[in-house]
Amino acid sequence: MLALVTGAAKGIGRAIALELGKNNFDVAINFNHSEEAAQKLCEEIKTFGVKCEIFQADVSDKDQAAKLFADVKSVMGETVSVLVNNAGITRDTLLMRMKPEDWLTVINTNLNATFFCTREAIRDMAKARYGRIINIASIVGLIGNTGQANYSASKAGIIGFTKSVAREYAERGITANAIAPGFIDTDMTEKLKPEIKEGILKSIPAGKIGSPQDVAKAVLFFASESSSYITGQTLAVDGGMTMV
Ligand code: NAI
Repeated sequence: MLALVTGAAKGIGRAIALELGKNNFDVAINFNHSEEAAQKLCEEIKTFGVKCEIFQADVSDKDQAAKLFADVKSVMGETVSVLVNNAGITRDTLLMRMKPEDWLTVINTNLNATFFCTREAIRDMAKARYGRIINIASIVGLIGNTGQANYSASKAGIIGFTKSVAREYAERGITANAIAPGFIDTDMTEKLKPEIKEGILKSIPAGKIGSPQDVAKAVLFFASESSSYITGQTLAVDGGMTMV
């Protein structure tokens, strides 16, 4: 069974690709700029005895997203059964200072790419009467965050999108679920100022920052048979930070 993970060269996407490969999924790794890291990850995944290939594409571009799925099908010789929409960016700033391009870039990369890729994947999944769409949202899509109006709107959009896809395709054996990570140790959170990080840490009941593997384990659950009667849900992986 083939899984495609977008933005998988590093961070959470990397951990997801590894976890799926370890658990017998063939893996298509999408990357935008980090070819070397993607290639290295791919070699590691192949040691698990599964197929793995890397595919360059900016998934926020609808034509590149379409080409990505065509390339995956022709190179790997199978269609995508599990799609993990993971690629994401932040452009944090207070609303008054937020430029239209800060807004549009984040919406394009986080929300529009999720639509483009899901639309490409769904046709083959519907034909196969099987599929797993797993969208990486964020707890700020549930509760909002100062300085992240663009990012939280994109992630809330992903949650609404997930629910609609879940309703539309439930009868065809396709589930669509979202994961809302809290504060996870990656380059994305590395950029935050120490005092902000400290404040966030205090708000986590588990008392520690999450790891990319914590998110990957939840993705594996949604990718597996164990979750076949679960759809349209948003699972927070956040050490108890939100509990909504
Ligand atoms: P990261 O910055 O380490 O990795 C993001 C990856 O997405 C990078 O490999 C990047 O090249 C790729 N990417 C960005 N734009 C792309 C595009 N247009 N086409 C293809 N690939 C693209 O960030 P991290 O933390 O691993 O984030 C992964 C996902 O998890 C994102 O959707 C993020 O919003 C989400 N998330 C992360 C949290 C955290 O605390 N780190 C918390 C909540 C959600």
